[in-house]
Amino acid sequence: MEKIKVMIVDDSYETRNNIRQLLSFSRDIKVTAEAASGEEAIMLAGELSPDVVLMDINMPGIDGIKATEEISLSVPDTIVIIMSVQGETEYVRMAMAAGARDYLCKPFGGDELCETITKAYENEKKRREKITPLSAKGEMKSRVITVFSTKGGVGKTTIACNLAVSLARSSKRRVALVDLDLQFGDVAIMLNVSVKNTISDLVKEFAQMDASLIDEYMVTHFSGLKVLPAPVKPEYAEYITANHVERIINELRETYNYIIIDTSANFHEPVLTSMDLSDKILLVSTLDLPTIKNVKAGLDVMDTLNYSPEKIHLVLNKASEQFGIKYKDFESTLHKQIWSYVPEDSQTVVTSANKGFPFVMTRTETKVAKAIIDMGYELMKEMDGGSSKKSPLRKLFG
Ligand SMILES: Nc1ncnc2c1ncn2[C@@H]1O[C@H](COP(=O)(O)OP(=O)(O)OP(=O)(O)O)[C@@H](O)[C@H]1O
Ligand SMILES: [Mg+2]
Repeated sequence: MEKIKVMIVDDSYETRNNIRQLLSFSRDIKVTAEAASGEEAIMLAGELSPDVVLMDINMPGIDGIKATEEISLSVPDTIVIIMSVQGETEYVRMAMAAGARDYLCKPFGGDELCETITKAYENEKKRREKITPLSAKGEMKSRVITVFSTKGGVGKTTIACNLAVSLARSSKRRVALVDLDLQFGDVAIMLNVSVKNTISDLVKEFAQMDASLIDEYMVTHFSGLKVLPAPVKPEYAEYITANHVERIINELRETYNYIIIDTSANFHEPVLTSMDLSDKILLVSTLDLPTIKNVKAGLDVMDTLNYSPEKIHLVLNKASEQFGIKYKDFESTLHKQIWSYVPEDSQTVVTSANKGFPFVMTRTETKVAKAIIDMGYELMKEMDGGSSKKSPLRKLFG
């Protein structure tokens, strides 16, 4: 295997030396450059295209965050890993938003250092293998994916948020998440983004609405994802019409590659509009009779709406056969194959929702995270990879 080429960026000679020492024990990693400032880092990264850049945050002149941003734009195949000291959480967030893939807290040991580099490198390799580039003309392709269910509490928001974050991280394209659960939307809480404006403030400016105005109303999550939050009060929901939603989605299509929409559990006009305009609908179910009954009714409605079966992907959340219903029976009741199985993992899912850290970023080793990350790759492949194969996703467990 070829060694991973690493560049160390730190204004302290001693720190650079320490890191070089730590990496000298690794068989898979090779230090190919060192830079003592942000300026030097940007220049050398452009010249040498290292696989990984270890970037200090605090440096005189161009700091680590600005340098990360520059490198992510000019040498997109280079992975930046940020090095921070304890307590710089805000800087770490900014660095991640600027394109850093991971971070290390100083002081770190050799094992942790090598592991972080190798993991980031492997993930990048995997990503590159799975994605086919946008069309040669470079024209913008935009895809709308609505996450829906006819039943509440089945995991729509969990899946929408984590899928969106995962796409934002792995596709390197622009991803927007719109909270169309207009009365009780909780996307902003689940992702722990601070809400200044919401969709209800945006529709007040309907007359002047264009892509750049909408952008001003969107909040940036530290993964790079842009979020349009739901109204802060349930009673504001009624002011948002199907027309508004249509206009918002169409404007977003101008500037975003993927638009993920979280919904409420009903066929209200705004939700219907979003489904009409969607390339894919992820219909979420769990394996209990009331939900199955509702989801079946939902599928019947979509059938009368003339949605093609390929447009709808059946996602089984909290998937397990241990409560007495078999996957096969579920599929034959709904006359539809399960497209993705998301296992139950309350420890991971609930903790991550409470902390506001999406588990597709913080708990990538869990099966539940893998299921959703894979869902993202599969959607990218299906919609942009030119492959028309619609095989169900690999079962990840059991
Ligand atoms: N795979 C899972 N394993 C364990 N718990 C889960 C899983 N998916 C979702 N949950 C939990 O189930 C609850 C409902 O999830 P979520 O809020 O995502 O559902 P929803 O369909 O958006 O609900 P609502 O209809 O109220 O908007 C949450 O407490 C969430 O943490
Ligand atoms: Mg929800």
